[in-house]
Amino acid sequence: MSDAPRKDPATLRSARWFAPDDLRSSGHRSRTMQMGYAPEEWMGKPIIAILNTWSDANPCHAHFKHRVEDVKRGILQAGGFPLELPALSLSESYVKPTTMLYRNMLAMEAEELLRSHPVDGAVLMGGCDKTTPGLVMGALSMGLPMIYLPAGPMLRGNYRGQYLGSGSDAWKFWDDRRAGLMSAQEWTEAEGGIARSYGHCMTMGTASTMTAIAEAMGLTLPGASSIPAPDANHIRMASAVGRRIVEMVHEDLTPNRIVTAAAVGNAVAVAMATGCSTNAVVHLVAMARRAGVPLTLDDLDAASRHVPVLANIRPTGTQYLMEDFYYAGGLRALMAKMGDKLDLTAMTVSGQPLGDTLAGARCYNDDVIRGLDNPIYREGSLAVLKGNLAPDGAVIKPAACDPRFHRHEGPALVFDSYPEMKAAVEDEDLDITPDHVMVLRGAGPQGGPGMPEWGMLPMPKALLKQGHRDMLRLSDARMSGTSYGACVLHVAPESHVGGPLALLRTGDIVRLDLPARRLDMLVDEAELARRRAAWTPPAAKTGRGYGWMFARHVAQADSGADFDFLTTDFGPPVAEPDI
Ligand code: FES
Ligand code: MG
Repeated sequence: MSDAPRKDPATLRSARWFAPDDLRSSGHRSRTMQMGYAPEEWMGKPIIAILNTWSDANPCHAHFKHRVEDVKRGILQAGGFPLELPALSLSESYVKPTTMLYRNMLAMEAEELLRSHPVDGAVLMGGCDKTTPGLVMGALSMGLPMIYLPAGPMLRGNYRGQYLGSGSDAWKFWDDRRAGLMSAQEWTEAEGGIARSYGHCMTMGTASTMTAIAEAMGLTLPGASSIPAPDANHIRMASAVGRRIVEMVHEDLTPNRIVTAAAVGNAVAVAMATGCSTNAVVHLVAMARRAGVPLTLDDLDAASRHVPVLANIRPTGTQYLMEDFYYAGGLRALMAKMGDKLDLTAMTVSGQPLGDTLAGARCYNDDVIRGLDNPIYREGSLAVLKGNLAPDGAVIKPAACDPRFHRHEGPALVFDSYPEMKAAVEDEDLDITPDHVMVLRGAGPQGGPGMPEWGMLPMPKALLKQGHRDMLRLSDARMSGTSYGACVLHVAPESHVGGPLALLRTGDIVRLDLPARRLDMLVDEAELARRRAAWTPPAAKTGRGYGWMFARHVAQADSGADFDFLTTDFGPPVAEPDI
């Protein structure tokens, strides 16, 4: 410790609040003493914000109520002073219409909490889907030294001796229940077995994908994202995070030295190799742009052709869950197998380049974490489609859908609202064939609003009864990272703003050509022009409040669905507050 860099206390950001011999600073000191702290406990020390997304409504973060004490322990040990600041919890399970409506709100909150408080660095505690991108986006924009503490996955589900995966098995069982293959009693038993500890979803859903991305970007301690939430290693990691952030403040290790183009490239490559959630697309673009790295859908598609899926984790993989991934060596083992797909010179919060943090990483199960010569899927997890239905792009997860849909042509069955679609899929006499393309629109960033996870449209009962379990589905919505099936998502521009999806009619032929990355409706230009001339924009969804602001400022899915006024190049940098 003795030769470690130490900042002159007078140069700490928090000194602006506490050091001056004036009335305002006296108030800050007096109010800190009001909380029971003597001046020597904080004066001249790095003050560390802990942005904690714990709440009673977020089972994925239930342990954060206590785990934050381990972070504080680490901060105190290293000579810092912790300030826990609660932030929006964004529980994927409860928040409607979708947490995505509030990701940018959390990003704004994270940025402004850090800006407005007397802090020198930050620990970000998140994990449930949108909390990772929300916290990281905000903290990137603020620019203080920061480190991400992932919640960790929950234990594997267990039902009648089978391992259950979050989300994925619920969808599967629900189709069985609707097909009359599962009783109400069995269903209740499965409900009690699928989520049986705190921690985030333990499939390679959005949560596991985004925490892996945070680690690959260099924002977590090495290996942190794979540790199951209830494992004692997670507690030790939390205190190590506390110790490390204090050192980062002394080293001035700010996120602009970490989240570079190289780090973003690593995050994209790791996303592909994990068999990531489709949601990763929107969040990666948004996070990269906050760091000033102009990532596009084309970059993601190029990476997908170049990096195979190595993690054999459901839903893309066949068998395993995050707990197995951890025991097999976790993300460090996976990255060690990625060879030249990663830029090992990228800096990390540990103060070491990525390559050094992977030294000694070993894989203990080559079936769970595959090598480049034996991948789960020879291309990456996602493909980006373009065509007259999606001029700005759409996303599909080829590895998670039946390959017979990779090239498909069929008549559209179009729904303009979720309730309308829901009623139709329950109709046992619905006039539909397995070749049909089910379409839901009005579910994009503005239409949803917030791009709800409606994109894995339920299979129509009429087809389930005939034994069909997949069909081509198309929407401007997102889908849960734990979903699967031939679902084309994130169609941009969305129908609500007049994207060509708005012009599609039931009976039109839709053509998907995945190898060519094309998505088209076979309707001629003159007819489309007629339909466009007759199209009228739908009414705004919200007339006041946050939803009103959201609709005016949210970008389309292909540019990350951030708010226009939050992007890095919007206006001059925000000045430090006057004190
Ligand atoms: Fe929180 Fe899935 S519900 S991660
Ligand atoms: Mg999810």
